[in-house]
Amino acid sequence: MRFPDYRPRRLRYNESLRTLIRETQLSISDLIQPLFVRPGRGIREPILSMPGNYRFSVDELIKEIKEIKDRGILAIILFGIPEKKDRLGTDAYAKDGIIQRAVREIKEKVPDIIVITDVCLCEYTDHGHCGIIKGGEVDNDATLPILGEIAVSQVQAGADIVAPSGMMDGGVMAIRKALDAAGFIHIPIMAYSAKYASAFYGPFRDAAESAPMFGDRRGYQMDPANAEEAIREVELDLAEGADIVMVKPALPYLDVIYRVKKAINRPLAAYNVSGEFSMIKAAIERGWLDEKVILEVLTAIKRAGADLILTYFAKEVAAWLNR
Ligand code: PBG
Repeated sequence: MRFPDYRPRRLRYNESLRTLIRETQLSISDLIQPLFVRPGRGIREPILSMPGNYRFSVDELIKEIKEIKDRGILAIILFGIPEKKDRLGTDAYAKDGIIQRAVREIKEKVPDIIVITDVCLCEYTDHGHCGIIKGGEVDNDATLPILGEIAVSQVQAGADIVAPSGMMDGGVMAIRKALDAAGFIHIPIMAYSAKYASAFYGPFRDAAESAPMFGDRRGYQMDPANAEEAIREVELDLAEGADIVMVKPALPYLDVIYRVKKAINRPLAAYNVSGEFSMIKAAIERGWLDEKVILEVLTAIKRAGADLILTYFAKEVAAWLNR
C-alpha cells in the first residue's frame, strides 16, 4: 500500500490514537533496581560518578527499599562492598557477610520485595577479579565450588533469585547443583549469560571498588565484536539450568538482545549498566539532553526484546510511570 491510500500520520493525530496503537509498553513491573550496600550505620554515601545512587548501610538501605517498593517496583539486585577484601573473597560467602546481613534484614523488614543477589567474587577479592587466581590467571574450575557456596549462603539468608555475573564456564551448573543439594530447588537463577568485556562498567567499579588490580576481564567476559557467540553462551546457560538469561550492557547491544530473544523462548533480562546511566545523567545535568531520553532508551531496550530491565533509573522512572 502506498500514498495517498496509506497515510501513517492518520494514527499519529493525537495522544489517544498514538497510545491506542503503541507496540511497546514499558511498565514498572519490567524494572529491577540495582542497589549498593556497605558496612556501618546511618550511611548514605553518594557515588560521585552515578548521581542519585549511594552506598547504603543496611539501615539506610531498608528505608530506600521501602520507598522503591512504594513506587511499585517488584525487585532489587544487591551489590556488596565488604569491610575487608582478601585473596579468596571470603566475605562473599560468609554467614555474616555484608550481603547476607543485608538480605536477612530486608527479608525481616520488607519481606515481599524480590531480592536478587550477585554471585561473583570481584567485589570481595583484593585483586578484583571474578575468580580464584592461580599462576596469574583466573582459574575457572577452582572458582566453581565457591560460586556454589556464595549462592547457597545468599539463599540461606533469604535471597529470592541468584544472579551469577562472573562469566565462569560451568558456573550456572555449579550453582544449580549446590542449590539443589542444599534443598533450594525452587530458587531461580538469572544468569549473566552474554556479558561483554565493556568499558561501560566504569562507574560501577568505582561504586563497588571492584576494578581488577592487574590485567582486565577479557579472558572471561565476551568480546564486544561477537553476536553469534552470545547465542551459544545463552544456550549453554539454559542447558545448565538458567531460568532467566541476560544480555549486558544493553544500549550498545540492542542487536544482541534482539537476536537472543529470537533464538530462545525464555525470559530475557537486559542490564542498562552504570556507564549507560552516567552518560545520560551527565548530558541531562549539562542541559545537553532532555530527561525524556531516559524513557526512550528503556523503551528501546524493551522493544529490542528484553522482558526485564536492570536499571539505575528504575526508581525515578517508576514515579513517572505511576502517573
Ligand atoms: C560484577 C558485576 C559488574 C557489573 C555487575 N556485576 C562489574 C564488572 O563485571 O566489572 C557491572 C554493572 C554496571 O556497570 O552497572 N561481576
